[in-house]
Amino acid sequence: MKHNTIRTATLVLALLLCAAQASAQTIKIGSVLTLSGPNATLGENMDRAIKLYMKLNQDKLPPGVKVEVITRDDGGPNPDKAKQLSQELIVRDKVQFLAGMTWTPNAMSSAPLSTEAKVPMVIMNAGTSVITTMSPYIVRLSFTLWQSSLPMGTWAAKRFKTAYVAVSDFGPGHDAQAAFTKGFTDGGGKIVGEVRIPLANPDFIPFMQRAKDAKPDAIFGFVPAGKQATAIMKAYGELGLDKAGVKFIGPGDITTDEELANMGDVPLGVLTMFHYSAAADRPANKAFIAAWHKEYGANSTPSFMSVGAWDGMDAIYYAIREQKGKIDPDRTMELLKQYKSADSPRGPISIDPETRDIVQNEYLREVRKVGGRLENVELETVQTAVKDPWKIINNKK
Ligand code: PHB
Repeated sequence: MKHNTIRTATLVLALLLCAAQASAQTIKIGSVLTLSGPNATLGENMDRAIKLYMKLNQDKLPPGVKVEVITRDDGGPNPDKAKQLSQELIVRDKVQFLAGMTWTPNAMSSAPLSTEAKVPMVIMNAGTSVITTMSPYIVRLSFTLWQSSLPMGTWAAKRFKTAYVAVSDFGPGHDAQAAFTKGFTDGGGKIVGEVRIPLANPDFIPFMQRAKDAKPDAIFGFVPAGKQATAIMKAYGELGLDKAGVKFIGPGDITTDEELANMGDVPLGVLTMFHYSAAADRPANKAFIAAWHKEYGANSTPSFMSVGAWDGMDAIYYAIREQKGKIDPDRTMELLKQYKSADSPRGPISIDPETRDIVQNEYLREVRKVGGRLENVELETVQTAVKDPWKIINNKK
């Protein structure tokens, strides 16, 4: 009798210990973002989305599974620093996912680590096309510059005869330049000049002056979203290009939602092609914006980078859920290749299983004043389910 009681008690204790262990199961995600320096708002908008997603979607995890995000600040486009942080996250913190990656150079320097360590890397921003080819463990939930800038070129060729191209001198700028030029010239447009602007501490006035001197119908521009977008917009206004009727066009980075309030009235009428606008009236976006305002206040506006981070978390939660919390990197990649969502704030999205890159709609937008505030108003869905054109054109996987 006594023996039995002890045996039962031991069994119960063992079961309890097992349960405690199971409930303590924690999936670690290493998030590399820019949270300091002149580009700090970029990473902040991503980090806020990650935190909000986790707060609102706990019920999407299997019972007993927790997610811990370990956030590291790369300080800006800084490949050596980002690589060091990714290495530490993998080796010391033993993360099962790498995530974030605000910048192309940072994603590129970390890519070999994700291959060597077999740690899936979920890109939430960096948009240079080639990145996903650099490791079979990379999946991208953000965008490529080719996705927006090629259709922008095609569309612009129907409206303008000449264009000047001004882009930041690094990966996404080069992609935007090549993609726009292809779309525009294939459509019969003429590029009357082009310039690459340094990424660090740029003064936009001399570059916009060169654009003005070329007397184009339109200036196609790409600079990183955030404060640089506001700075180039101000230069465009200060040189009177808006008043002179020279249209400013580009991917949505130049009219990034979170900065519109800091740009004065200069952006009114600026036309962009992009996958996300905070002003979109899709129900999933309305719900996302309402949740954001509730958490961060009515004056805070999420950016396309926030949506990249939000959807990146949704993809990670999907992979965790499907594996019931027992993560295997190769199985994770198989799952991520199948990921799709009808409920992204940007509209329907999926991952192209062949390239591990995002497939999404592209919208033509115009900056307009709505209720006293500037917004990127979506005028039309120019293309649905757009795959990265660079990979199609160059037969890259
Ligand atoms: C990138 O580094 O790939 C990047 C950075 C800022 C942007 C877009 C792309 O606005």
